[in-house]
Amino acid sequence: MFLLDEIERNDLWRQLTTTIENYFNQVAELPVAPEIDLAAIRSRLEPFDFAKPVSSLATLSFAVDNLREFQVHTPHPRYFGLFNPAPTTMGIVADALVASFNPQLAAWSHSPFAAEVERHLIRVFASRFGYDAKTADGTFCSGGAEANHTALICALTQKFPQFAENGLRGLSKQPVLYVSSQSHHSFVKAARFCGLGTDSVREIEIDANFCMSADDLAKQIEIDQANNFAPFFAVATAGTTNGGTVDEIAKLADKAAGENLWFHVDAAWGGAAAFVPELREILGGIEQADSITFDAHKWLSVPMGAGLYLTRHNDILNQACRITTDYMPRYAGSNVIDPYVHSMQWSRRFIGLKVFLSLAVAGWEGYEKAIRHQMAMGDLLRRELEASEWKIINPTKLPVVCFTDAQDTVTESVAHLDAIANRAVSSGKAWLSTTRLDANTPVLRACVTNYRTEVADVLALVQALNEARTGE
Ligand SMILES: Cc1ncc(COP(=O)(O)O)c(C=O)c1O
Repeated sequence: MFLLDEIERNDLWRQLTTTIENYFNQVAELPVAPEIDLAAIRSRLEPFDFAKPVSSLATLSFAVDNLREFQVHTPHPRYFGLFNPAPTTMGIVADALVASFNPQLAAWSHSPFAAEVERHLIRVFASRFGYDAKTADGTFCSGGAEANHTALICALTQKFPQFAENGLRGLSKQPVLYVSSQSHHSFVKAARFCGLGTDSVREIEIDANFCMSADDLAKQIEIDQANNFAPFFAVATAGTTNGGTVDEIAKLADKAAGENLWFHVDAAWGGAAAFVPELREILGGIEQADSITFDAHKWLSVPMGAGLYLTRHNDILNQACRITTDYMPRYAGSNVIDPYVHSMQWSRRFIGLKVFLSLAVAGWEGYEKAIRHQMAMGDLLRRELEASEWKIINPTKLPVVCFTDAQDTVTESVAHLDAIANRAVSSGKAWLSTTRLDANTPVLRACVTNYRTEVADVLALVQALNEARTGE
């Protein structure tokens, strides 16, 4: 019943690999975004009351057909969207292998190879970000939100030694943390989940470059100290979700160190710049961070979810997550870490394999090439937009382009930009979105997030936008 017979299994494997291969060969011909038909999706699911088994091949086809029909095709080369990649082939292979071997990454002794692959990768990535690989630590996570949450827990644990045992009620002052209006909102959720409450999140003003203002950070810390709050945590973003801008990491690191704050760099997407020599300087100062968020499932094109939390404090994850139980198997040897005592998760998937296999096969050289290619496509997009009288708003070298309609001197409105994005998306030719860089700056946003995006795709996006602008 569960382990289908050999003939059926072989039919399924064949069907599965053919489907995957076809999808990658045909995705560029599909409309990037489907028409959403909620009623159709629900009515197709209605017959599944699970009273009677359905054939495996028919079920596979059902899933494939509906994924194809009802999904924004993030692996499409004209998906200029959020930081969702086209997955690497080795990442897909790894995810299938992991599902089959099902290693349990709670106890080291259950999956020593898997645990050591992840330990190895943590050291490799830590040293790429400028940490000392011998003393750095980290854990794989579901994604950037979990990594950011982990950072907050580590900071609370380090800055308030009584927190682990007594919780927030053991503290005499309310802890407060600092983000900018462009920081990812997972910090707001994390503050809520940690029991700090969202009031503890101080949103610092951004400067003319949409980056956190170090002066405003200093001012707000002073105000909080004067009002008997306990500042403990500051975040710089390396590659903001909205505009791909990079905060002045070194400057913010100094300020945070001067005030004895835990300094975290959220490099979920932009961290990949650290792997390309000529881009490395963009992240100058990241090595001073107490901890770093980096998502391999963004610019490294690994299938979701593959987040990394890295820290230069060797024992902090242990202090934050340590627990002892009688039922978890232990390994008598020393110098190994049980993943469940270094992570918010307990039994978890072997996340590192998709990163390991992708990196092993592409090498750093392959990644440099892919990142440079996407940078070049971003530059081309900026040039082509300007040539068609769109105005680039966000000052970043990275391939996120935020722009407005330079021909529109009258309305400059959110509604105008939304209408353009909607028309372009419903044409099926490309996917992009709108956002705001601050309260007064609505923009269209297009990010080159796919290693398969080529010149023709960029030109097609600009053409779709030009047509959408005139309502064609
Ligand atoms: C800068 C930044 N940080 C954190 C996150 C959250 O990452 P995830 O969606 O992998 O949890 C995102 C998501 O886009 C992001 O852009």
